[in-house]
Amino acid sequence: MAFNPLEEKGIPLEKQMRNWHQIVGEPYNKTEVDCYTRTRQILMNGIEVQAWGFKHQMNRFLADIDYNDRANISRIGRIENTQQMTANWMGPADQSVLETTLGYEQVAVDLTAWLAQNEPDKYVKETFDFGLLEDFDHLYRYAQFAYMTEGIEPDDIVQSKTDVIVGRPTQHHHNCNGLRLRKHYGKNNTSPQTKVNILTVLSGEQQTHNFYAEHGFMYGDHVLRETYAEIKDVEEEHVTMYESLIDPNETMWEKFLIHEFTEVCNYYTCYEDEVDERIKKYWEVALNMEIGHLQMAAEMFKKYEKRDPEEVIGKEIFIPCRFKSQKPYVQKILEAEANKRLAPEGEFYKSYEEIPNDWASYKVQEKVAEISAPSENAIRLVEIYHDRDIVSANEGLKRKETEILDKGLQRVAVAHNTVIPEDLERMIEKHESRKKETEKLI
Ligand SMILES: [Fe+2]
Ligand SMILES: [Fe+2]
Ligand SMILES: [Fe+2]
Ligand SMILES: [Fe+2]
Repeated sequence: MAFNPLEEKGIPLEKQMRNWHQIVGEPYNKTEVDCYTRTRQILMNGIEVQAWGFKHQMNRFLADIDYNDRANISRIGRIENTQQMTANWMGPADQSVLETTLGYEQVAVDLTAWLAQNEPDKYVKETFDFGLLEDFDHLYRYAQFAYMTEGIEPDDIVQSKTDVIVGRPTQHHHNCNGLRLRKHYGKNNTSPQTKVNILTVLSGEQQTHNFYAEHGFMYGDHVLRETYAEIKDVEEEHVTMYESLIDPNETMWEKFLIHEFTEVCNYYTCYEDEVDERIKKYWEVALNMEIGHLQMAAEMFKKYEKRDPEEVIGKEIFIPCRFKSQKPYVQKILEAEANKRLAPEGEFYKSYEEIPNDWASYKVQEKVAEISAPSENAIRLVEIYHDRDIVSANEGLKRKETEILDKGLQRVAVAHNTVIPEDLERMIEKHESRKKETEKLI
């Protein structure tokens, strides 16, 4: 049966305050938690950070607004603030920054893959596929440090649901800002599903950026610190890319509706999918709170815009964050698109063989990697620990690793410390022969 949140009961705003005990809750156990409970928890934190910040933007930018409405926007913002705490603080104190980081990149890979397959707009879908391969490579680079620094195998976190192997190399994700800008949708002829999908991934990417900004300095290893800086800068580009898809002609009231609707859709999905009964109960409470926010946003939209909210959000919800293993889809995109690069707005994407020698991103890439690319040093260092890079994938995909690297690697503006396919081949052979030697000893 279709779920129309404008017709559901929800929890009225005046009943949404909770005590500290309820707000803070109890953390999950990092060794027992389902990896997709963790991805839901990480994503909902990002959604709430965006929802909270937006209420403040409304009260800073909206001039002609009644006192009571301004006070209610501020009350809703306070509730978003408490919801942010509940979601983020489900994370336990003994989950390290690197472990949480692998969780963030698993969110990005599996969320973006789901969205790409459930996106009605072809141009937006292509942007999701493009971003997907970048976060896929981040997961691989961080997995090297998780092994070297904390002795963690990637599957300790991703639980074999997400492949960890080279993607489009991170050193090639640095672009001229102008090239990151995409063509925005038209607010009057775009499906509400597209609006929800974009705001969902944008909120996740923004929070990934914030997490690296606030935690990347917490390790003493200089190469790891630099890698956090490098990847954080790519997340900044992802925020630029995804936000540029949104029609800037949307009014604040329209955006208010889309924000609350996006929260409803995400909590609804979390509630449907959750396997932890305790956390599922909370997703249900949060869903009902968001229905209350949405209905209030709808009343203000009618009052100030004199339009029907269903013109913007339709009559039923969407499923924006169904977390499940996306290995076949991601592998298909990886094998087909590792060589894609950003073309100017509206021209979709090109393979690096097709881009001109004066491509604006080359200058950026040459500058930032003029000493070295930290994300390449990750592989150079792990060779000392493990003979080869840390990967988690089936044998078929593992055998294709050098081929994928060869496809993804540019021939221009490449850092001098780059691991080229021949280096990787040599590492893999060394690893294999060491394994045989060790077997003989036993
Ligand atoms: Fe919220
Ligand atoms: Fe990422
Ligand atoms: Fe990202
Ligand atoms: Fe909300």
